[in-house]
Amino acid sequence: MKVKKAVIPAAGFGTRFLPATKAVPKEMLPIIDKPTIQYIAEEAVNAGIEELLIIVSRGKDAIINHFDKAFEIETILERDGKEEMLNAVREVSDKLNVCFVRQQEQKGLGHAVLCAKTFVENEPFAVMLGDDVVVSEKPCIGQLMEQHDKYGASVLGVQKVGMEHVSKYGIVDCEHVEGRMYKLKGMVEKPKMEDAPSDVAVLGRYVITPGIFECLERTPKGAGGEIQLTDALVLLSEKEDIYAYDFEGKRYDIGNKQGFLQATVDFALSRPDLKDDFAKYLKGILNKI
Ligand code: G1P
Repeated sequence: MKVKKAVIPAAGFGTRFLPATKAVPKEMLPIIDKPTIQYIAEEAVNAGIEELLIIVSRGKDAIINHFDKAFEIETILERDGKEEMLNAVREVSDKLNVCFVRQQEQKGLGHAVLCAKTFVENEPFAVMLGDDVVVSEKPCIGQLMEQHDKYGASVLGVQKVGMEHVSKYGIVDCEHVEGRMYKLKGMVEKPKMEDAPSDVAVLGRYVITPGIFECLERTPKGAGGEIQLTDALVLLSEKEDIYAYDFEGKRYDIGNKQGFLQATVDFALSRPDLKDDFAKYLKGILNKI
């Protein structure tokens, strides 16, 4: 069955970016001139996703407003013939049916995904985490959707992160199938370096079969006292095969300040309207340090 629905959990507090995130959701912090969540939504559109559910929480209304029609701004831009800006404002909301649900309590990623049960119904669906922005020729989630079409099973997007970083991620134990495809044998959330089965991490992109909801409902609290999607996936793997796909693309961890800065610099250097002047500026300061 084709994947048409995607879920973006965006209910977290964003404490790592305080005080910026005191009144502004972390998903609305811009990389240059676009909120980070819009990059994720565009990846979904480019992969052929038709319906998007964003899981929000109290204080995240700016996300809902962002995907709404900006009637006043659009009327003024239309009147003034500012076509390019008008397209930028309309870009995603025109192509995607976006809806929202509020997670009442912060009980972890697994609990957030469980809030999507009614929206997803009995279909395979994509989960895309806002802290991971991936730049690739073929949209990262599209790569996983392609593999899902081929294998008819859940597919997790993975890459090597290096042993020193395993304690930040869901780490997989898997065996090679073909090309970039692996079969999942086990998975552990945020292991200590000495307990990690590998240094291959799930990096914020999943295609999951609807069987996950029954597993989430019986998943106890795990790492950090939260209901973890990783633990529910382990339960699901006892009933059906799950695969891990070593996706192509450069992934930025924009949930931390280094990753956010790297994304900002790289994105500016790839923008035709900014790159020449910005590169000149960077070369200038590099000569001084
Ligand atoms: C979450 C998941 C983890 C995954 C990571 C990717 O962790 O729980 O399995 O590897 O996203 O970014 P978080 O970053 O929310 O702590």
